[in-house]
Amino acid sequence: MDDFRYLEGRLFCEQVAVEDIAREVGTPVYIYSATTLERHFTVFDRAFDGIPHLVCFAMKANSNQSVIKIFARLGGGADVVSGGELYRALVAGIPAERIVYAGVGKTRQEIEYALKAGILMFNIESTEELAAINEAAGELGVKAPIAIRINPDVDARTHPYISTGLKKNKFGVAIEDAFDEYLAAAKLPNIKVIGIHQHIGSQLTELSPFVDSIKKTVALVKRLKAEGLDIRYIDVGGGLGIKYLHENPPHPDELAMAIRPALTDAGCELIFEPGRVIVGNSGALVTKVLYRKSTEVKNFVICDAGMNDLVRPTLYQAYHEIRPVEIRPDSEEYTADLVGPICETGDFLAKDRRMAIPEQGDMLALMSAGAYGFTMSSNYNSRPRAAEVMVKGDGYFVVRERETYEDLLKGEKIPDFLTGKG
Ligand code: LLP
Repeated sequence: MDDFRYLEGRLFCEQVAVEDIAREVGTPVYIYSATTLERHFTVFDRAFDGIPHLVCFAMKANSNQSVIKIFARLGGGADVVSGGELYRALVAGIPAERIVYAGVGKTRQEIEYALKAGILMFNIESTEELAAINEAAGELGVKAPIAIRINPDVDARTHPYISTGLKKNKFGVAIEDAFDEYLAAAKLPNIKVIGIHQHIGSQLTELSPFVDSIKKTVALVKRLKAEGLDIRYIDVGGGLGIKYLHENPPHPDELAMAIRPALTDAGCELIFEPGRVIVGNSGALVTKVLYRKSTEVKNFVICDAGMNDLVRPTLYQAYHEIRPVEIRPDSEEYTADLVGPICETGDFLAKDRRMAIPEQGDMLALMSAGAYGFTMSSNYNSRPRAAEVMVKGDGYFVVRERETYEDLLKGEKIPDFLTGKG
């Protein structure tokens, strides 16, 4: 459920007409509903009422400061995968003790930053990373709290690019090796083993992969506890899918019901790392139609948002619903590609889509763009990144300004031999 709906043919986000935002702020623009963000976080959190747990929002899905502040105020934590995300989380007001840090390639500098900040735990992805963290902690005179990310070899049955829990994926430590890895970790002088981590993939629309992997994880937790290891946290990861088109993903309550039995006798506090399910349907990318053209075989709608603004269609053949910001009652339909201004054939937002034939200047909303939309955007073709707007009730706020041409040059320097000074 989201807070975008039509009123007399005009698309609204909460009580604000999307067209008004687009006209005043310009396009392309990401628009998020604060009410949806709050509701989605709360629904997820409440699903696990009665079990000690912490919801660590996956910052990679949307790291806008105002978005993160909403979750911080609701008691949420953060799942980060870089020093930059850790910085964003801390500045937005997420306490360090509610931050977990995953990722296969943590650098020495990032490790030290996280150790000094005092995060809840590192989710370790390899033996060499564990050694590096042990060494860095020793030099700082602290103990690094860790979980090992296990790779349970479970098929998440999602797009191969966003499946992470298979043997052939780069993530985590193979479940067969994890036991020995844990015993070795427990012997390291500057490491404090406190948890176990798993994350099997993203946009999961079935419960069974979650249940299968959690059963494997809990079995391992029991063996580790029997060895005297103090596993206090099971970090279940993220991955719950959303509806883009015909998907029918489970509700967080259904996820909670399905995994509760396996988890209850593990006696651990749970950590969740949801991203998409919280923010995906809270946001839309609004773009303006610049031109239309038709060839012998195709109709094209050319708009002012491109793959640099929303790369998901290009990268994963992802589907985002297109809604006209104003419905024209008399318009006819055709099948067209919605494409952007980028000089790449792969620059499309929709392919062979049935849509009302738009007029030049019409605004279109690409729905379900709140997750992995802005965070994956780039400056390719030297395009300033889009503005981000948050709507709350009948008000809206620019929560990130559109980049300027000057922003594009930030940090660039000309060596003397090119300026004639040298
Ligand atoms: N935890 C870990 C360790 C992760 O790697 C991820 C996502 C999450 C949590 C959050 O997963 P979610 O709840 O959002 O499914 N760019 C892709 C998705 C990549 C997901 C990467 N990891 C997309 O646009 O579909």
